[in-house]
Amino acid sequence: MVVRVGFIGAGGIAQMHMRNLQRLTGVSVVAVHDIDRARAESVVSLFPGCQVFDSYRELIERGGVDALWICLPPFAHESQEIEAARAGIHLFVEKPLATTEERARAIFAAIKEAGVIAAVGYNWRWLDITAKAREILQGTPIAMALGYWLGGMPGVPWWRRKDQSGGQIVEQTTHIFDLARYLLGEVTEVHAYGFRGLMQDVPDYDTEDASCVSLRFRNGTIANIASTDLLPPGAGKIGLDLIGRDVRLELTNRALTVYRAHERTTYDSHNDPYYDEAVAFIEAVRTGDASGLRSTYEDALRTHLVTVSANRSLEQGRPVSVPAL
Ligand SMILES: NC(=O)c1ccc[n+]([C@@H]2O[C@H](COP(=O)([O-])OP(=O)(O)OC[C@H]3O[C@@H](n4cnc5c(N)ncnc54)[C@H](O)[C@@H]3O)[C@@H](O)[C@H]2O)c1
Repeated sequence: MVVRVGFIGAGGIAQMHMRNLQRLTGVSVVAVHDIDRARAESVVSLFPGCQVFDSYRELIERGGVDALWICLPPFAHESQEIEAARAGIHLFVEKPLATTEERARAIFAAIKEAGVIAAVGYNWRWLDITAKAREILQGTPIAMALGYWLGGMPGVPWWRRKDQSGGQIVEQTTHIFDLARYLLGEVTEVHAYGFRGLMQDVPDYDTEDASCVSLRFRNGTIANIASTDLLPPGAGKIGLDLIGRDVRLELTNRALTVYRAHERTTYDSHNDPYYDEAVAFIEAVRTGDASGLRSTYEDALRTHLVTVSANRSLEQGRPVSVPAL
């Protein structure tokens, strides 16, 4: 069976996914919609016979797709997933799910009701070294985790506006929050502090320059996850440290280093997690068996509930319980 794929949103990450799909056999990209029609047209040349649609509704109704990659900016998730799910189309959705809790919950309800397969692009889960970290953590209790996404401001215009991106915690550091959940389990409470004021010269800038979020996990582990977009290229640092008795694991997207007394072991990453997540999703669509997915919509919604709770804590200036699903 050839899996017929469509794209809603044809920007930076969509084009990366399209290049990976080109490498797979038994997959055909047949339909693309982007509000920027020129952008959609520029990408379809990669795929002979691929059609551009003027609206997502038209694509859902007439595109003849089995699966859709939803690669929209956070604020643009409206009814696309809901209508696609109702039409029986399987979904690969880029993180974050939306800017708000309400939108993500409404989409999840439609996915659940329709029973379609829905995966989310939390690609850190697909790193070979994340699997290694999970293996090492079996039997290694962790007291504390320190996560960090310390980088520069992404160039896309919507990112700097909190109403459009959800802010750095929801849009970007969500990868680290998700990784912490994947390795340590559920988060029950968050308390966030934010800093603003050093980016006043940047037009339309309207989000935190930096934030620190303290987290409490159900298993008792504590964590702090820090974010900033203030740094120039080359000065950043992204990853998660995990600390237990006589051990520290340091996980980045390139390597896992395990520090023990007088001993340091480094495992380099050798896989492309974006490619592997695409292979697993296509396989799930082909077979109807979603058990090989590492980030389902439901699981991603749990991460989203943590990050939107952190935003709520920033607004309210106090610790906030993470709501149940
Ligand atoms: N997993 C990852 O590593 C990763 C990396 C980059 C981006 N992302 C996520 O992917 C999403 C998209 O990011 P991007 O970098 O591709 O952004 P982008 O701005 O490059 O692309 C977004 C595209 O969506 C289109 N668009 C906007 N509103 C639309 C609408 N209502 N209907 C149809 N098209 C619309 C835009 O015209 C644009 O082409 C974001 O949520 C981002 O967080 C994930």
